[in-house]
Amino acid sequence: MKTMLYEGKAKQMFTTDNENELLVYFKDDATAFNGEKKGTIQSKGVINNKIATFFFNLLAENGIPHHLIRRVSDREMLVKKLNILKVEVVVRNIAAGSLAKRIGWEEGTKMPSAIVELYYKNDELGDPLVNNYHIKAMGLATEEQVCQMEQYALKINDVLTAYLKTKKLALIDFKLEFGLYNGEVILGDEISPDTCRFWDTETGEKLDKDRFRRDLGNVEEAYKEILKRLTGEAI
Ligand code: ADP
Ligand code: TMP
Repeated sequence: MKTMLYEGKAKQMFTTDNENELLVYFKDDATAFNGEKKGTIQSKGVINNKIATFFFNLLAENGIPHHLIRRVSDREMLVKKLNILKVEVVVRNIAAGSLAKRIGWEEGTKMPSAIVELYYKNDELGDPLVNNYHIKAMGLATEEQVCQMEQYALKINDVLTAYLKTKKLALIDFKLEFGLYNGEVILGDEISPDTCRFWDTETGEKLDKDRFRRDLGNVEEAYKEILKRLTGEAI
């Protein structure tokens, strides 16, 4: 029996006959600024399902454990049911978005090495920035789990950055979510233009959700362009 367990801003999660597996349904809904701005990006669900599947497969080839079992339809993927850790892990290669704002840097400022940031996954509080001390005090994850998430996040950054470069895309920053499966930390959620910043390496054009957040136009086109560069598929 398939019942909806949770409806989020971009996806719905359904139970399956197997208690250890969930069916993820990717919607076209888009939100920004903690749900304040709402809209629809046509075909986003289909595109993000394909892009996330592509990235999960690439990461598996590089030894990163993740939740994807298989993509089952245009908008659905079957995943391992995780106990999601309420810590969002952001990796940044070039200053943009909230980092640029917070420390007063111009967007596009290069950094000598990647920055890893941790955020408390809590919509009501607007996902505040936290550190290891907060995480320990709140009991969100153990020190070992945080260490594991950071290690995976940096490895994922290396794998994705190198791959995307071959497609003339710069990986500016991205957000990851991890969860526990049989006590092990594994990668969950999605990797897509919703959760990453991709800039064209030649023109600097933004090819991600910032086009929606900032009303830059050509939103659907940007998502389609990422899919095309990754898989060659035109939709
Ligand atoms: P949000 O909750 O931020 O609005 P989504 O619309 O993307 O986000 O909803 C997906 C929800 O499912 C998120 O809360 C995410 O943490 C959670 N999730 C992602 N992967 C898994 C998984 N494998 N098992 C359980 N929950 C997951
Ligand atoms: P930020 O600069 O707004 O903090 O975003 C950093 C990265 O995290 C960026 O690639 C977009 C992604 N992100 C999400 O996936 N979900 C969110 O809710 C936010 C705020 C950012």
